[in-house]
Amino acid sequence: MVYYTAMRFIVTAGPTREHLDPVRFLSNPSTGRMGFAVARAARAAGHAVTLVAGPVALKTPPGVRRIDVVSARDMLAAVRAEVADADVLVMTAAVADWRPARRAKSKLKKGEMPDTLKLVRNPDILKSMRGPRVRIGFAAETGLPDAEAARKCREKGLDLVVGNDVTRPGSGFGTTTNRVSLVTPDGSVRHLPLMSKLAVAHRIVAFAERIASDG
Ligand code: CTP
Repeated sequence: MVYYTAMRFIVTAGPTREHLDPVRFLSNPSTGRMGFAVARAARAAGHAVTLVAGPVALKTPPGVRRIDVVSARDMLAAVRAEVADADVLVMTAAVADWRPARRAKSKLKKGEMPDTLKLVRNPDILKSMRGPRVRIGFAAETGLPDAEAARKCREKGLDLVVGNDVTRPGSGFGTTTNRVSLVTPDGSVRHLPLMSKLAVAHRIVAFAERIASDG
């Protein structure tokens, strides 16, 4: 029998919004379901959980502390403020990689809208958070997620990347199920069958517990 001590999880979920003006933004269709499921599963396993959520329409799982954010930079600040004593960081959030170079204070009128939008890169939150003992990322791809997941695992120095092809039926944005592969730094890839996002979440939490107990 293996005993795990309770750990502190930070889980990010949902999309970020990158505003162009108060009423317009760049974003993506993430609903936050996968991240909320990870938060629920980690809490059910007895861990302390902080959930950093982009704009989503989901109820906070019982016993989970939630911090709401809007943009990638807000998410970075929230994770940074929480990360010092965290054991596990699970970044399920679909962070926008770009934001408009300029955010107008009031609504832009049609005539004021530029023909082309100048964008700047957002910070990579996961890459910059080296602190937690266990760091887990996601790779939502359109086709062939394994190679990309392996690349992200290497480049971000992660313990696990959960890859999925968001174009496959039952996977991806807004579904209650997911078909994922678990990719680890040694290059191994484990394909899981289609299952509920909560079942995937339990696998992820169990993986984090194993890595942490390996020391
Ligand atoms: N991520 C992050 N900060 C960003 C972008 C992504 O922390 N600015 C995290 C995501 O939460 C996810 C992982 O990094 O866990 C992979 O995200 P993804 O968008 O798939 O990859 P990118 O690093 O953006 O790479 P690419 O655009 O080349 O696919």
